Amino acid sequence: MKIKLFVSALCLVGMMAGCSPTGAQQGGETATVATAAVDTGKIVVENIMARRSVRQYKEWPVGRDTVQVLLECGINAPNGMNKQPWALRVVDSKEYIDGVTAVFKEVNPRVAGEQGFKNMFRNAPTVIFVAADPAASSSQIDCGLLGENIMLAARAMGLGTCCLGSSAAFLQNNPRAAEYLEKLDLPKGYKLLYCIAVGYPDESPAAKERDASRVKFID
Ligand SMILES: Cc1cc2nc3c(=O)[nH]c(=O)nc-3n(C[C@H](O)[C@H](O)[C@H](O)COP(=O)(O)O)c2cc1C
Repeated sequence: MKIKLFVSALCLVGMMAGCSPTGAQQGGETATVATAAVDTGKIVVENIMARRSVRQYKEWPVGRDTVQVLLECGINAPNGMNKQPWALRVVDSKEYIDGVTAVFKEVNPRVAGEQGFKNMFRNAPTVIFVAADPAASSSQIDCGLLGENIMLAARAMGLGTCCLGSSAAFLQNNPRAAEYLEKLDLPKGYKLLYCIAVGYPDESPAAKERDASRVKFID
């Protein structure tokens, strides 16, 4: 079913280019542009379909210039009335990550004992924290769209990511982690929604099955 969806998506991209008023058949520059659009479309669709949550990373750090590109992609997401009701914080400090993980381990010794556990952010060397302004009615939607932009851009740049609700909840709700939440210096009233683990992948997880019956065309 997954493969069928993927093929349909690729066909859609091809049809979109073919249906342009000038058409690909007219040759010359138009054909080149149309072909390039199909190629680009395929690459974008492939990137979306191949993204998976990564939970094991190489030790390699992620350069801040690279992270900056991800952040730019994130804040260019559509958002309700362009209110941009988000605050992003990037942590790549081993001291911070190991420090809060030490607190996490005391509270969750079973999880911390799992094979391959390095830190509470699914072992990533860089973490992007996403906080929302609850006063903006669409802030959760806006922050979600922002995150997907970041994760898809990351994959296109050879990086792995994992969206993490539990790590954010731990920081947001556990008084013993308060010092680390404070260090994020979030605007007053903002709530930490989720984190994005970022790093160079050290695993290639298989796709999890999606339920295509949840999608319907209505005539
Ligand atoms: C809002 C949200 C919260 C998530 N929280 C966690 C989490 O706390 N820990 C984790 O390992 N994965 C977390 N994930 C990742 C999901 O488990 C993952 O996206 C899902 O199983 C589908 O797998 P895929 O991303 O590889 O396609 C979260 C994803 C989302 C969207």
